[in-house]
Amino acid sequence: MLSMNIIDGKLLAKEIREELAKEVADMLQKGGRAPHLAAVLVGDDPASQVYVRNKVRSCEKVGFRSTLVRKPADITEAELLAIVDTLNQDATVDGFIVQLPLPKHIDEEKITLAIRPDKDVDGFHPVNFGRMAQGLPCYLPATPAGILEMIRRYEIPTEGKEVVVIGRSNIVGTPISILLSRKAYPGNATVTMCHSRTHNLEGHIRRADILIAAIGSPEFVKADMVKQGAVVIDVGMNRVEEPETEKGYRLCGDVDYDSVAPKASLITPVPGGVGQLTVVSLLVNTLKAARREVYRD
Ligand SMILES: NC(=O)c1ccc[n+]([C@@H]2O[C@H](COP(=O)([O-])OP(=O)(O)OC[C@H]3O[C@@H](n4cnc5c(N)ncnc54)[C@H](OP(=O)(O)O)[C@@H]3O)[C@@H](O)[C@H]2O)c1
Repeated sequence: MLSMNIIDGKLLAKEIREELAKEVADMLQKGGRAPHLAAVLVGDDPASQVYVRNKVRSCEKVGFRSTLVRKPADITEAELLAIVDTLNQDATVDGFIVQLPLPKHIDEEKITLAIRPDKDVDGFHPVNFGRMAQGLPCYLPATPAGILEMIRRYEIPTEGKEVVVIGRSNIVGTPISILLSRKAYPGNATVTMCHSRTHNLEGHIRRADILIAAIGSPEFVKADMVKQGAVVIDVGMNRVEEPETEKGYRLCGDVDYDSVAPKASLITPVPGGVGQLTVVSLLVNTLKAARREVYRD
């Protein structure tokens, strides 16, 4: 049994997957085909393998078609660009992702730019990012989209609230800061985006009605930094060595959960929080792609 103030990402993800499965059944019944996501995995980075496996498995759970394209780490940039081009042209593929990070000899920016924006269900292409910033229809990057969905489904008020985001990456910190500043719900918040050069970081964190930690530093945020009653959204996903355990490590967030949870009005656990929503957000984008909802033909 989860305590009252936990945002249950697992349950939300299950709810959304059920909704998606219904949509797929509906599409099939009307004579359409299931949405189709392709994922390109280069090399054998263990974390990337787990992420891609989860994405493919989630597709299966909701009745989407999925294709996994696996290539060895020594693939050339030109070969990878050719694969991207094939997927761009393939009318049976609604959307696709190239799992990052890529090996050092491949220019990630070049690959990202080569993906057609209407198939860029990761929302990493500058066209989608720019559309997001201007409030135009787009594919939202999965992690920020997942956070918005949590806020919506838990009916967390955001208007006029002090939101503090720690982290300014292109995939989490910057987009969620932009989204929560927009004239919309969730949004209309006053957002402060902090990073490693921020002065008096603790002072900023302490003002937050809603705190979003996307740092990549295990249990960085301690109870004494957090305002009583704050909503705490922990994006961090860190492995901490624990040689005495069977796995040899444990997963934890950027927030010191045990000390912060009693002070928070709502908090996301790690695992079982934001990460769960991230994967379903990719599926939501793929459904939008299949329906040509963002980019019309
Ligand atoms: N659950 C999920 O689905 C999901 C998805 C994506 C990421 N993540 C996790 O979220 C975390 C962040 O990911 P990311 O890709 O955004 O990471 P990133 O690209 O490494 O960015 C980290 C950000 O945190 C800032 N930062 C680092 N140390 C800091 C400090 N001591 N004080 C203040 N700011 C600091 C950095 O500042 P500078 O810009 O100044 O360097 C940077 O902006 C990671 O643990 C990652 O594994 C989880």
